[in-house]
Amino acid sequence: MSAAENISAKSLADLGVTQPDQVAPLFAQLRARFDAESASAVNEESWKTFRDAWLGRKSGVLTQITGNWLKPAPPTVKPAVGAALNELRAYVESKIEELRASAEAGADSAALTHERTDLSLPGVIRPIGSRHLIRQVLQEIEDIFVSIGFSVVEGPEIETPYYNFEALNIPEHHPVRDDMDTFYIDLPSAPGKKPDSSLLLRTHTSPVQIRTMEKTQPPVRVIVPGKVYRRDNPDATHSFMFHQIEGLAVDTDITFCDFKGTIEYFVKQFFGPGVKTRFRPSYFPFTEPSVEFDASCVFCGGQGSTSSGATCSKCKGSGWIELFGAGMVDPAVYGFVNYDPKKVSGFAFGIGIDRLAMLKYGIDDIQVFFQNDVRFLRQFP
Ligand code: FA5
Repeated sequence: MSAAENISAKSLADLGVTQPDQVAPLFAQLRARFDAESASAVNEESWKTFRDAWLGRKSGVLTQITGNWLKPAPPTVKPAVGAALNELRAYVESKIEELRASAEAGADSAALTHERTDLSLPGVIRPIGSRHLIRQVLQEIEDIFVSIGFSVVEGPEIETPYYNFEALNIPEHHPVRDDMDTFYIDLPSAPGKKPDSSLLLRTHTSPVQIRTMEKTQPPVRVIVPGKVYRRDNPDATHSFMFHQIEGLAVDTDITFCDFKGTIEYFVKQFFGPGVKTRFRPSYFPFTEPSVEFDASCVFCGGQGSTSSGATCSKCKGSGWIELFGAGMVDPAVYGFVNYDPKKVSGFAFGIGIDRLAMLKYGIDDIQVFFQNDVRFLRQFP
């Protein structure tokens, strides 16, 4: 405890002060103490401690003097104590304010020194992301089709059963709906009413065929990239969310030959000229005839076996890999969009982009696309 605090804690009687002329030396002692202690207020924190020690309401030196000296002072001494205390208070307050200003200025210049930007230092290089492989493949596919006259359109991921099924010639209770089980959306319902589950996450990009034909008269040549959803269990080739690109060409004179030529052109552009292609009969309610389109296995060159003679695990020895479904648009579909099936014809296809990317880049598990492991992503800058 400082000497200043010591005398201020005592009463005038304890200090032997009985005459007014004894008061001034006491206050001079306090002021000397104050000046000596003020040297400790060098920064904001020590300034606060110093200020509280002198001006603190409860136990600051000036409060003590008021309580211990002024209030109980005998009437002969009281005026001298009051005057000296007022003088000391004015001095203490102005000095403390001065010290605050210089402590703050010191803090500002310390911060300036600390934070000064050195323009000669090398800049901070922030890691720049790259496009996801699915995006890159999508772009590749789009470029190929755009180069032969297709335009890119998009449609909603949340669909009505009408566009996802019925207008594609898949009535309710049609068995093919089992293959495309999806996620239905319960919309908030009005109080007392049943939830409205009339919307679903689209299972394929084919609904955009209908949406496009509703809005456009032939000729139509579009591709439709986008996300689709199915209640499929995840495994190496299945994901509950994946990407498709739909193709639709409708005009007055489109034949199966146009269809075959377009698809073969795309596959050769995408995989390279060495790839062989073939059609297999298939079934989709919205195309007739329907086909699955296969390419010769890009892993074993269509041999069905590796160079060491082992069976190719990718095509399981067949030499062919299924790429996507397609076909000539079923005339029944034209009925839903007010096209005249006697006047128009066309073809459509639906490519699984994720599977195509797996084939082209030798990826054996579709899940890696969605795990966001940068060690995987960095391989496709
Ligand atoms: C369809 O979705 C049809 N809409 C395609 C079509 C369009 C046919 C136009 C005729 C005319 P499919 O269910 O076969 O067909 O799916 C198409 C492709 O999506 C498949 O070849 C496959 O590459 C991919 N695919 C299907 N299910 C999954 C899944 N769970 N995960 C990843 N890819 C899938």
